[in-house]
Amino acid sequence: MSVAPQTYQQQGYSTIAKSLHWIVALCVIAIVPIGIMMGRLPDGNFKNNLFEFHKSLGALVLMLMTVRLIYRIVHGVPPEPKIPAFYRFAGNVTHWALYAMLLATPMVAWIGYNAFGVRVPFFGLFELPALVGKNDALSETLFAFHRAMGIGVGVLMAMHIGAALFHYFIRKDGVLQRMLPGS
Ligand code: HEM
Ligand code: HEM
Repeated sequence: MSVAPQTYQQQGYSTIAKSLHWIVALCVIAIVPIGIMMGRLPDGNFKNNLFEFHKSLGALVLMLMTVRLIYRIVHGVPPEPKIPAFYRFAGNVTHWALYAMLLATPMVAWIGYNAFGVRVPFFGLFELPALVGKNDALSETLFAFHRAMGIGVGVLMAMHIGAALFHYFIRKDGVLQRMLPGS
């Protein structure tokens, strides 16, 4: 049976799921270029502030993603979009990879920072507890992982945004609308 994709109505995400998606999306769209830029800046106040902002934003992403994962497990998601199985599969793989990476990347940095001997700040309000004691070798390894994982998040994000635009402009199948207000 063939149905004109333009006429398809897809069932959307809940308001809470959409709000969490867009707040996290804004944070991650900012955090990746900040992470790449900050290490390459000359020493000074601006660089230090950007590092502090990157760490706090990362801590916020970790908290929001934890809430989001629990919300997803408890409340589920709308029925899968009515699109060919291959696209559904590719979407599911990318979404789960994003969940995993958006939890693991800040977690690795948090432990790496504690192993470096400092705590992670949260916008000057409080600090996250230390999870491990000082250990220079561990800190170096975890930061090497964190840098690679941060770039991995950037790649996944680009694929994900590319796919959303592909669904909207080329397939016109209503998938993007599932995450937009009012759907
Ligand atoms: C979702 C959360 C996060 C993402 C996507 C992310 C992403 C990145 C990226 C892309 C880089 C640059 C990699 C490079 O230039 O090769 C970076 C560097 C860095 N990030 Fe994050 N980050 C996150 C959370 C955090 C957190 C929570 C902390 C601190 C606790 C942190 C601390 C750092 C530090 C210190 C660097 C510089 C490492 C170095 O130059 O050795 N990040 N991050
Ligand atoms: C212009 C930017 C973005 C657009 C247009 C967009 C669009 C979408 C859409 C339409 C969905 C639902 C797909 C479906 O119906 O199955 C979705 C899900 C998702 N998006 Fe985005 N997104 C954007 C940015 C981001 C960013 C920056 C991140 C994080 C790095 C992100 C993470 C996720 C995750 C994890 C899901 C799965 C949600 C779930 O099923 O629980 N998105 N996005």
